Amino acid sequence: MAKKPKTIFVCQECGYESPTWMGQCICGAWNSFVEEKEITPVKEDNRRRTIDGGKPVKLKEVGTREYSRIDTGVGELNRVLGGGLVKGSLVLISGEPGIGKSTIIIQAASNIAKNGQKVLYVSGEESEEQIKLRADRVCGELPETLFVLPETNLDIVETVCDNINPSFLIIDSIQTMYSDELDSAPGSVSQVRACGNKLMKIGKMKNTPVFIVAHVTKSGDLAGPKTVEHLVDCVLNFAGERDQELRILRSFKNRFGTTSEIGAFMMEENGLQEVRDISGTFLENKAEGAEGSVTAAIYEGSRPVMFEVQALVAPANVGFARRTAVGADNTRLNMLLAVLEKKAGLKLVNEDVYVNIVGGLRPEGTSFDLAVALAIYSSYKNRITAKKTIVIGEIGLTGDIRTVRFADKIVREAVRMGYERIIMPSSNLKSLKGSFEGCEIVGVKNIVEAIKIF
Ligand code: TYD
Ligand code: MG
Repeated sequence: MAKKPKTIFVCQECGYESPTWMGQCICGAWNSFVEEKEITPVKEDNRRRTIDGGKPVKLKEVGTREYSRIDTGVGELNRVLGGGLVKGSLVLISGEPGIGKSTIIIQAASNIAKNGQKVLYVSGEESEEQIKLRADRVCGELPETLFVLPETNLDIVETVCDNINPSFLIIDSIQTMYSDELDSAPGSVSQVRACGNKLMKIGKMKNTPVFIVAHVTKSGDLAGPKTVEHLVDCVLNFAGERDQELRILRSFKNRFGTTSEIGAFMMEENGLQEVRDISGTFLENKAEGAEGSVTAAIYEGSRPVMFEVQALVAPANVGFARRTAVGADNTRLNMLLAVLEKKAGLKLVNEDVYVNIVGGLRPEGTSFDLAVALAIYSSYKNRITAKKTIVIGEIGLTGDIRTVRFADKIVREAVRMGYERIIMPSSNLKSLKGSFEGCEIVGVKNIVEAIKIF
């Protein structure tokens, strides 16, 4: 434990430090001494953040620098990181086992190594041969500067880093690592936290970016990795349905960029392939003119994403009607149902309502409210739209359709993709510029208007 700080007296005029209070300082100033606590840094304290410190600095005078970034060679990963990997940053990449964390990381590692940078891939899960098998499949010719180390002792990893000085370090996974200093088993909360701290030290001291893989379960996070989230710079999450190829990478925390960017990949024979045309991907299997199916759009990060909302309204047989949303928020669904009942006169009390966002996407925000409501209406009334239509808009409790952000960009993308009609908040119409030939743009003020023209 740190010793109790010693009290010293410092002259405000000249900075002279004295162990006792003095009426006049050696510089001649009178009554210039104030009491301060002397900071005595504990040696070998590796939990500290400052290296030479304990001294506050004026915020005004702190220098800023452009973060130098490393291109990972994977465009979608660069995008989610905010434009590449920041030197000296700690990135946690979480996801279910088998989702493709090791794959994306070996792809990035080999790309970085192909630029002549030394990369160290530490695996506590797989042997050299297993890593090689995967790398052969997904990386093509392997670069000279990509090193692997199957190891679980983090103190050894630290020594190896001292010896070879990698420009990029990967730890796969933090749950398999342990530090000698603790007796507890790898994966325990205390080990994960200790390893996180150690990795932060390695990264910050050498200005090496570190990627840390963490397994989490579908139902939520395991306790371990949660404890390091606050000390890393970025938390990425890799998700998707294991039996479908689509994988979505998003960031929950990013000290060097936004958290609204998403990256999309397809898991294929030879690794993860980037999906550039993301707006089309979620709609590939959409059957045109199906009851209860509506195309919605949201603006994620820097691009629009289109997806299909499906709803099924069926008579409830026993007791209370069921309301289930997959990919959307259940509370929001209940709210929309109440608005449909009260404002649009739909009789849904004795109906089960299911809503599903197709393709495993979990869109955030409220700009697809109207799409959900119209999908429910479409299923309830067995009504289909004749035209290829996109629906955007938030619904308020009064049944009004509220403005969505970046509507102009969504409209432009929808026109590019050949949509024939866009139903959107009328308050958004004035933000549209230019002409949209071949596409009918309909502004609506409330849910009743929207239903009428659907
Ligand atoms: P992996 O990266 O090992 O997952 P994680 O590290 O998140 O546990 O990927 C495992 C799955 O990905 C595995 O089920 C097989 C599949 N896969 C492919 O379909 N194509 C490939 O090229 C690779 C390497 C894996
Ligand atoms: Mg793995």
